Amino acid sequence: MSERDLPSSEYDAAGDFYLNFITTQLATPDSFFHQNVEIMMRMLGDVKGLQVCDLACGEGFLSRILAAQGATVTGVDLSATLLDHAVRQSPELEVAYIRDDVQSLASVDDASFDAVVCHMALMDISDLDATIRTVQRILKGHGTFVFCVLHPCFESPFDVDSPPHELDDEGKLVAIRVTSYNEEGKWFSGGSGVRGTLSILSTSSCVA
Ligand SMILES: C[S@@+](CC[C@H](N)C(=O)[O-])C[C@H]1O[C@@H](n2cnc3c(N)ncnc32)[C@H](O)[C@@H]1O
Repeated sequence: MSERDLPSSEYDAAGDFYLNFITTQLATPDSFFHQNVEIMMRMLGDVKGLQVCDLACGEGFLSRILAAQGATVTGVDLSATLLDHAVRQSPELEVAYIRDDVQSLASVDDASFDAVVCHMALMDISDLDATIRTVQRILKGHGTFVFCVLHPCFESPFDVDSPPHELDDEGKLVAIRVTSYNEEGKWFSGGSGVRGTLSILSTSSCVA
């Protein structure tokens, strides 16, 4: 598929919203982004000298972290808007950015990477099986795949209109009650979070 035939990403229309969200996450030391990255980097181990693919890299914050630790990074995403920001923010780092669909990723050869990472994106991609086949194809033998996804208790359709939150005596959130936990399928989120905003803008779906 040539670049011309690639679909656009719903993140193009929501570029400003998403970049603002990322900026807030990165500026908040105890945000879930920092916690995710710490755990993912621990799972990856030493990345110095490794070829790493950041699948659905968005504006590239994880690509930059990996490159700063000595990896040679390829970030792939569908969103021209987010990739544009990624390129501008990584001028001196060892990162190449490609606009492509990770469900096929025709622009990347087999067995190209020592590791593939995917931060908070698999739940946005419609064909999960195809995406996992891509990961298997582009990894070298014994390569590593580290990903994290949104837990289905957050931003699900079941906690939007009337948040089923449990608060302690001081009003602090201690738990979120979840219904339909074992039901698999695709669903759309409401509300004003990332998934709610993106599903209003587009017809993309989330996989629980
Ligand atoms: C929630 S964002 C996560 C971006 C980044 N990993 C982060 O943590 O900020 C989901 C990303 O998946 C990308 N995406 C969705 N479907 C895709 C596809 N089929 N191929 C490539 N990227 C895709 C979107 O453009 C968006 O940048």
